Amino acid sequence: MLVYLDCDPGIDDALALGYLLAHPEVELALVGSVSGNTDAATAAENARDLLALFGRPQIPVAVGSTDFLTRPYHGGAPHVHGGNGIGGVQLVRGTAPFAAGSAAEELVRLARSRPGELHVLAIGPLTNIALALQLDQELPSLVAQVVIMGGAALAPGNSTAAAEANIHNDPEAAAAVFAAGWDVTVVPLDATMLQRFEQSDLDALLAGGPRQQALGRMLGTYYDYYQQHFGRPSSALHDPLAAAVLTGEAVVSRDARVPVEVDTGDGPGRGQTIADLRGRYRPVPPQHPDGVRIVFDIAEPFAPQLLARLLSL
Ligand code: BDR
Ligand code: CA
Repeated sequence: MLVYLDCDPGIDDALALGYLLAHPEVELALVGSVSGNTDAATAAENARDLLALFGRPQIPVAVGSTDFLTRPYHGGAPHVHGGNGIGGVQLVRGTAPFAAGSAAEELVRLARSRPGELHVLAIGPLTNIALALQLDQELPSLVAQVVIMGGAALAPGNSTAAAEANIHNDPEAAAAVFAAGWDVTVVPLDATMLQRFEQSDLDALLAGGPRQQALGRMLGTYYDYYQQHFGRPSSALHDPLAAAVLTGEAVVSRDARVPVEVDTGDGPGRGQTIADLRGRYRPVPPQHPDGVRIVFDIAEPFAPQLLARLLSL
């Protein structure tokens, strides 16, 4: 499976990157950075340093957009992901040069070079993907599918009461990506807040080699943040769950394909993903052919699968 990863590392982005590299069926061709948890330049450095740590420095990293489609970058989420985006952990600096083009340009180039093969996994704000659509209107026909960690269908938001962080950071980009007429799967907070790493998972990572220990040290910061939500040291598995939905390792047990609109207004609903789930009480959930597929739950707990992959890195 040929994959383009668009990300804002990001502690759970780092877990997702590790997961993809540990999966034998994933050919990770390109990583693009975007502002979100931190600025796009720092996110690109984090991605490059993580690739070096994981022994894959040859995978190219393209620096993406610092500003969102219509608004400037606002400083990220240091209270969640630490000041450097990866929990304050200092990684050995990778030395590989960044790709020549922007993340959007390199995504288009890659999709054109392997038409129909590329799977896009977006685990940050959707700015680069929207910019790529502006660069090449044929992109939807060149890409196999788009899987997104983002949004909240029936669950509360996390950035605001209504909006999830990735969509809230750039609602205009999300609206464009949802409306582009390609095969979009969204893995929202409804699914990701249910899958968690606990203290035992952190302990297992800290008892591993240097790669696992680095991830474990990052996770400590994430656990501190999630203490307020879960009442114990643990964390949600947002981005790695989206990666596992992409690979099929996380088997979806409940989904719906429905029209989804994004609130791009300036009110309290800005960034909300408004999914038309009025058919949800039918025996068979709605599968609107032109809709966005929303994942609500998976069949088995994901943490053991993720931990096994990360320990095999
Ligand atoms: C999403 O927002 C970011 O903080 C995480 O990396 C994840 O992609 C969760 O809402
Ligand atoms: Ca992310």
